[in-house]
Amino acid sequence: MRLEPIHPDHADAVQRLARDPLVTATTTLPEPYPDGGAAWWIADLLPRREAGEEHVFAMRVEDGEIAGVVGVGDVEGPGGSAELGYWVGVPYWGRGYATAACVMTVDFAFGWLSLAEVNAYPLLENGASRRVLEKAGFRLEGIVPNKYPKWSPERRLAHYRITRADWS
Ligand SMILES: CC(C)(COP(=O)(O)OP(=O)(O)OC[C@H]1O[C@@H](n2cnc3c(N)ncnc32)[C@H](O)[C@@H]1OP(=O)(O)O)[C@@H](O)C(=O)NCCC(=O)NCCS
Repeated sequence: MRLEPIHPDHADAVQRLARDPLVTATTTLPEPYPDGGAAWWIADLLPRREAGEEHVFAMRVEDGEIAGVVGVGDVEGPGGSAELGYWVGVPYWGRGYATAACVMTVDFAFGWLSLAEVNAYPLLENGASRRVLEKAGFRLEGIVPNKYPKWSPERRLAHYRITRADWS
Protein backbone atom coordinates (compact mmCIF):
# COMPACT_ATOMS: atom_id res chain seq x y z
CA MET A 1 0.00 0.00 0.00
CA ARG A 2 1.02 3.58 -0.64
CA LEU A 3 -0.39 6.57 1.24
CA GLU A 4 -1.13 9.58 -0.98
CA PRO A 5 -1.84 13.04 0.48
CA ILE A 6 -5.56 13.45 -0.11
CA HIS A 7 -6.33 15.33 -3.32
CA PRO A 8 -9.47 16.25 -5.29
CA ASP A 9 -8.62 13.38 -7.70
CA HIS A 10 -9.48 10.96 -4.87
CA ALA A 11 -13.00 12.34 -4.46
CA ASP A 12 -14.84 9.86 -6.69
CA ALA A 13 -13.36 6.82 -4.99
CA VAL A 14 -13.85 8.28 -1.52
CA GLN A 15 -17.47 9.13 -2.37
CA ARG A 16 -18.20 5.60 -3.66
CA LEU A 17 -16.78 3.89 -0.55
CA ALA A 18 -17.81 6.40 2.13
CA ARG A 19 -21.51 6.29 1.32
CA ASP A 20 -21.77 2.67 2.51
CA PRO A 21 -23.76 2.64 5.78
CA LEU A 22 -21.32 0.06 7.15
CA VAL A 23 -18.62 2.73 6.91
CA THR A 24 -20.61 5.70 8.16
CA ALA A 25 -22.12 3.81 11.13
CA THR A 26 -18.91 3.67 13.18
CA THR A 27 -17.18 6.84 11.95
CA THR A 28 -17.96 10.51 12.43
CA LEU A 29 -18.86 10.74 8.72
CA PRO A 30 -22.34 12.17 8.08
CA GLU A 31 -25.18 9.68 7.66
CA PRO A 32 -26.47 9.31 5.04
CA TYR A 33 -23.30 10.39 3.25
CA PRO A 34 -24.39 13.27 0.99
CA ASP A 35 -23.86 13.47 -2.78
CA GLY A 36 -20.72 15.53 -3.40
CA GLY A 37 -19.66 15.01 0.22
CA ALA A 38 -16.18 13.75 -0.61
CA ALA A 39 -15.32 16.64 -2.94
CA TRP A 40 -16.56 19.14 -0.36
CA TRP A 41 -14.65 17.44 2.48
CA ILE A 42 -11.37 17.36 0.51
CA ALA A 43 -11.65 21.02 -0.51
CA ASP A 44 -12.45 21.93 3.09
CA LEU A 45 -9.48 20.15 4.60
CA LEU A 46 -6.75 21.31 2.22
CA PRO A 47 -6.32 24.66 4.05
CA ARG A 48 -6.07 22.74 7.34
CA ARG A 49 -3.22 20.71 5.85
CA GLU A 50 -1.52 23.95 4.79
CA ALA A 51 -1.91 25.18 8.38
CA GLY A 52 -0.43 21.93 9.72
CA GLU A 53 -3.63 21.07 11.60
CA GLU A 54 -4.73 17.95 9.73
CA HIS A 55 -2.95 15.47 7.46
CA VAL A 56 -5.13 12.99 5.58
CA PHE A 57 -4.03 10.30 3.13
CA ALA A 58 -5.78 8.05 0.65
CA MET A 59 -4.77 4.37 0.75
CA ARG A 60 -3.66 3.26 -2.74
CA VAL A 61 -3.55 -0.55 -2.79
CA GLU A 62 -2.03 -3.20 -5.05
CA ASP A 63 -4.77 -3.12 -7.67
CA GLY A 64 -4.27 0.63 -8.13
CA GLU A 65 -7.59 1.48 -6.46
CA ILE A 66 -8.24 3.64 -3.42
CA ALA A 67 -9.24 1.42 -0.48
CA GLY A 68 -9.78 3.96 2.28
CA VAL A 69 -8.63 7.00 4.15
CA VAL A 70 -6.37 7.58 7.15
CA GLY A 71 -5.14 10.71 8.86
CA VAL A 72 -4.30 12.73 11.91
CA GLY A 73 -6.32 15.73 13.02
CA ASP A 74 -6.11 18.23 15.88
CA VAL A 75 -2.37 18.24 15.24
CA GLU A 76 -0.40 20.22 17.76
CA GLY A 77 3.16 21.36 17.11
CA PRO A 78 6.27 19.24 17.71
CA GLY A 79 6.11 17.62 21.15
CA GLY A 80 2.31 17.71 21.13
CA SER A 81 -0.45 15.26 20.25
CA ALA A 82 -2.86 14.42 17.43
CA GLU A 83 -5.92 12.23 16.91
CA LEU A 84 -5.84 9.33 14.44
CA GLY A 85 -8.85 8.50 12.25
CA TYR A 86 -9.36 5.96 9.46
CA TRP A 87 -11.81 3.88 7.50
CA VAL A 88 -11.56 1.22 4.81
CA GLY A 89 -14.17 0.57 2.11
CA VAL A 90 -16.18 -2.60 2.71
CA PRO A 91 -14.81 -4.54 -0.33
CA TYR A 92 -11.33 -4.14 1.16
CA TRP A 93 -12.00 -5.19 4.76
CA GLY A 94 -9.96 -7.94 6.38
CA ARG A 95 -6.80 -7.58 4.29
CA GLY A 96 -4.66 -5.74 6.85
CA TYR A 97 -5.01 -2.39 5.07
CA ALA A 98 -6.20 -0.37 8.08
CA THR A 99 -3.39 -1.74 10.22
CA ALA A 100 -0.75 -0.99 7.59
CA ALA A 101 -2.12 2.51 7.05
CA CYS A 102 -2.21 3.25 10.79
CA VAL A 103 1.38 2.06 11.22
CA MET A 104 2.51 4.32 8.36
CA THR A 105 0.56 7.29 9.70
CA VAL A 106 1.99 6.82 13.18
CA ASP A 107 5.48 6.73 11.64
CA PHE A 108 4.62 10.01 9.88
CA ALA A 109 3.30 11.55 13.12
CA PHE A 110 6.42 10.77 15.12
CA GLY A 111 9.03 10.89 12.38
CA TRP A 112 7.85 13.83 10.31
CA LEU A 113 5.62 15.85 12.64
CA SER A 114 7.75 15.12 15.75
CA LEU A 115 4.67 14.58 17.90
CA ALA A 116 4.89 13.10 21.40
CA GLU A 117 1.68 11.03 21.30
CA VAL A 118 -1.16 9.95 19.04
CA ASN A 119 -4.65 9.17 20.37
CA ALA A 120 -7.61 7.33 18.88
CA TYR A 121 -11.22 6.98 20.07
CA PRO A 122 -13.18 4.15 18.41
CA LEU A 123 -16.65 3.35 19.66
CA LEU A 124 -16.38 0.86 22.53
CA GLU A 125 -18.17 -1.82 20.51
CA ASN A 126 -16.03 -1.36 17.39
CA GLY A 127 -14.02 -4.53 17.84
CA ALA A 128 -12.34 -4.45 14.42
CA SER A 129 -11.09 -0.89 14.92
CA ARG A 130 -9.86 -1.65 18.42
CA ARG A 131 -7.97 -4.68 17.10
CA VAL A 132 -6.37 -2.49 14.40
CA LEU A 133 -5.10 -0.09 17.06
CA GLU A 134 -3.74 -2.91 19.20
CA LYS A 135 -1.93 -4.40 16.18
CA ALA A 136 -0.49 -0.94 15.42
CA GLY A 137 1.01 -0.68 18.91
CA PHE A 138 -1.56 1.47 20.72
CA ARG A 139 -2.45 0.84 24.38
CA LEU A 140 -5.91 1.11 25.88
CA GLU A 141 -5.96 4.12 28.22
CA GLY A 142 -9.56 3.79 29.36
CA ILE A 143 -13.24 3.93 28.46
CA VAL A 144 -14.54 7.50 28.15
CA PRO A 145 -17.90 9.14 27.41
CA ASN A 146 -18.61 9.96 23.77
CA LYS A 147 -17.24 13.38 22.77
CA TYR A 148 -18.43 13.49 19.15
CA PRO A 149 -21.59 15.47 18.27
CA LYS A 150 -22.75 12.68 15.96
CA TRP A 151 -23.62 10.29 18.80
CA SER A 152 -25.44 10.67 22.11
CA PRO A 153 -23.37 11.18 25.28
CA GLU A 154 -24.43 7.72 26.47
CA ARG A 155 -22.29 6.08 23.80
CA ARG A 156 -18.84 5.19 25.04
CA LEU A 157 -15.44 5.38 23.38
CA ALA A 158 -12.31 3.32 23.93
CA HIS A 159 -9.38 5.71 24.33
CA TYR A 160 -6.18 4.36 22.80
CA ARG A 161 -2.80 6.06 22.83
CA ILE A 162 0.68 5.46 21.45
CA THR A 163 3.55 7.55 22.78
CA ARG A 164 6.84 8.34 21.14
CA ALA A 165 8.51 5.98 23.65
CA ASP A 166 6.12 3.14 22.69
CA TRP A 167 6.85 3.84 19.04
CA SER A 168 10.63 3.89 19.33
C1 LIG B 1 -12.35 -0.99 11.34
C2 LIG B 1 -11.74 -1.04 9.94
C3 LIG B 1 -10.97 0.23 9.70
C4 LIG B 1 -10.80 -2.24 9.85
O1 LIG B 1 -10.20 -2.21 8.55
P1 LIG B 1 -9.46 -3.51 7.97
O2 LIG B 1 -8.60 -3.07 6.84
O3 LIG B 1 -10.46 -4.58 7.73
O4 LIG B 1 -8.54 -3.91 9.25
P2 LIG B 1 -7.35 -4.98 9.28
O5 LIG B 1 -7.56 -6.02 8.22
O6 LIG B 1 -6.06 -4.23 9.29
O7 LIG B 1 -7.54 -5.62 10.73
C5 LIG B 1 -8.82 -5.98 11.22
C6 LIG B 1 -8.66 -6.83 12.46
O8 LIG B 1 -9.89 -6.81 13.20
C7 LIG B 1 -10.34 -8.14 13.40
N1 LIG B 1 -11.79 -8.06 13.48
C8 LIG B 1 -12.68 -7.98 12.49
N2 LIG B 1 -13.93 -7.89 12.99
C9 LIG B 1 -13.79 -7.89 14.35
C10 LIG B 1 -14.71 -7.82 15.43
N3 LIG B 1 -16.02 -7.71 15.23
N4 LIG B 1 -14.21 -7.85 16.71
C11 LIG B 1 -12.88 -7.95 16.92
N5 LIG B 1 -11.95 -8.02 15.93
C12 LIG B 1 -12.43 -8.00 14.66
C13 LIG B 1 -9.79 -8.90 12.22
O9 LIG B 1 -9.79 -10.29 12.46
C14 LIG B 1 -8.39 -8.29 12.14
O10 LIG B 1 -7.55 -8.77 13.18
P3 LIG B 1 -6.49 -9.98 12.93
O11 LIG B 1 -5.52 -9.49 11.89
O12 LIG B 1 -5.87 -10.18 14.28
O13 LIG B 1 -7.28 -11.16 12.45
C15 LIG B 1 -12.86 -1.21 8.85
O14 LIG B 1 -13.65 -2.30 9.21
C16 LIG B 1 -13.74 0.01 8.73
O15 LIG B 1 -13.37 0.95 8.05
N6 LIG B 1 -14.91 -0.01 9.40
C17 LIG B 1 -15.89 1.09 9.30
C18 LIG B 1 -15.31 2.42 9.71
C19 LIG B 1 -14.62 2.39 11.05
O16 LIG B 1 -15.12 1.82 12.02
N7 LIG B 1 -13.46 3.08 11.13
C20 LIG B 1 -12.74 3.21 12.37
C21 LIG B 1 -13.30 4.32 13.18
S1 LIG B 1 -12.50 4.42 14.77
